[in-house]
Amino acid sequence: MAAAILFFYAAMALSAGAAGAKAAVVEHTFLVKQENMRHLCNDTLVTLVNGQFPGPAVEATEGDTVIVHLVNESPYGITIHWHGVKQTLSCWADGADMITQCPIQPNTTFTYLFNVTGQEGTLWWHAHVSILRATLHGIIIIRPKSGSYPFQKPHMDVPVIIGEWWQRDLMKVDKNFSNGGHFSDNPAGATINGKLGDLYNCSGFVEDNFVLNVEQGKTYMLRLVNAVLFSEYYFKVAGHKFTVVGADANYVKPYTTDVVAVAPGETIDVLMVADAPPCRYYMVALANQPPAPDPQIPVFMSRGVVQYNNAPIDVGGNCTKEALMPEMPDQHDTLASFYFHGNLSGLPSNPLLAQIQGHVDEHLYIALGKGSICKGNKPSCKRGGSDESIEVAYMNNVSFHLPEKMSILEARQHTKANGAFMGVQDLPSQPPRSFNFTDPALIPVVPGGKLEELEATRKATTMRRFAHNAVVEVVFQSTATMQSDSNPMHLHGHDFFVLAQGHGNYNPARDVSGYNLVDPALKNTVQVPRLGWAAIRFVADNPGAWFMHCHFEFHIAMGMATVFEVANGPTLDETLPPPPSDLPKCTNMKE
Ligand code: C2O
Repeated sequence: MAAAILFFYAAMALSAGAAGAKAAVVEHTFLVKQENMRHLCNDTLVTLVNGQFPGPAVEATEGDTVIVHLVNESPYGITIHWHGVKQTLSCWADGADMITQCPIQPNTTFTYLFNVTGQEGTLWWHAHVSILRATLHGIIIIRPKSGSYPFQKPHMDVPVIIGEWWQRDLMKVDKNFSNGGHFSDNPAGATINGKLGDLYNCSGFVEDNFVLNVEQGKTYMLRLVNAVLFSEYYFKVAGHKFTVVGADANYVKPYTTDVVAVAPGETIDVLMVADAPPCRYYMVALANQPPAPDPQIPVFMSRGVVQYNNAPIDVGGNCTKEALMPEMPDQHDTLASFYFHGNLSGLPSNPLLAQIQGHVDEHLYIALGKGSICKGNKPSCKRGGSDESIEVAYMNNVSFHLPEKMSILEARQHTKANGAFMGVQDLPSQPPRSFNFTDPALIPVVPGGKLEELEATRKATTMRRFAHNAVVEVVFQSTATMQSDSNPMHLHGHDFFVLAQGHGNYNPARDVSGYNLVDPALKNTVQVPRLGWAAIRFVADNPGAWFMHCHFEFHIAMGMATVFEVANGPTLDETLPPPPSDLPKCTNMKE
């Protein structure tokens, strides 16, 4: 189908979709190219779409068709993933490197074509190759076709994309992570809408702030996206409260808070009323991390300014000279995130809900942690930080290996149902050993430690295959093995209901009775708490091969990933169509 579409070089959006309009086509050209950007007294060569950081917004109306012509003039193979777009019967456009396609090679093009149907709110797009998404990302806004929201229509939409500014060669950083990780591989700073903000300066040059001009009494919808590689962020605006109304392009039951926690991959929509005295207020994004003995990275914080239109220029009246700073949670406070996410609930009217309230066809219990593999494929080796082994991240002690010759989806297309292909193995349904997963004594990496036997991990391409319309329950267990991070787990091609979360080890005898089957939030990314667990359910109703992984980029690079393959249904309109004719060929792949 895509091949039939004429190729337009100039970027254009044919229609942003007026309220009540018929389904329209939203068309863009994304030119991927390396460019120099100057921050912190340094010119850094970065890979960008249309020269923008963050990249261009894709604005659509529910039901629209989105067409993006990707022109790759960068030196890297590229794919773009439309994070959270359900891609109903369009898995070929999902853009997951070596899962749904081979990368678009330098000096070639590919057209992504998909619909945004049955989803309203905020999503985003990002490169899904190596860790290039650090600078290759942008927001997707899907507005309701009727023009009306389940709350009062906000005066204005405000994308708030939390990002990071990197001054390192990202390809090298990616390599380092697949070789066990380097904790000196850190970004230079955090950004809000591409601006580092006035907490960053060098030789007297202060970085720009993102500035939001507001008018008193008006309501603003802040569409928060966490596009960073590493950290969950807390977000606050001094003197203001938020009403959370959406997450991952699903409406949530509105609730009021003064702090938002947003994990990599998540989007959170909040309403903010400009009801404070007309002064200047800082908006702050602060990264959190587990305390030592987890390895520590520097504190990343970016701030922007909320500026009232009628604020006195030379400060006077009741305004203080400096913009007001919000009081942020401690950077080691991971409980504020636990409570924030625990407070998300959905609308009980969701039609998918009935399907997950009854019989469950498949149960998976997935331990998320770090382990090690022996160098040179040796069957045994010294672990506990020894250089005989390489640190990896795992699901149930398997570290995911990306296929190298053909994408999983192409292999699926060439294989009869139930046939094994490309040496892909089943992801085990539970961890190989049962132990106290959340014992903090497991965190420090020490030679000869108790952890060594638990570290043993194998490297493999894993997958789980689900019958069409199977009801799947996954319980994710964050572990304390060599670290005690939370894990923002993301599934492509499906939204899932988040039924429960808890601290410590999941215990079905105790925890199943606490599942929320009445009004659970519908998400594409669940923040599995540090030293805790989260339970989700979804209906495997979208045929294809769908990547499922932690959205911490170092965790993906180290192998915390798998693939969920969903079978075609019995009829043609439940069957994945053949690939578009311009799907990139798997050439230049590794042998
Ligand atoms: Cu936003 Cu596979 O990810």
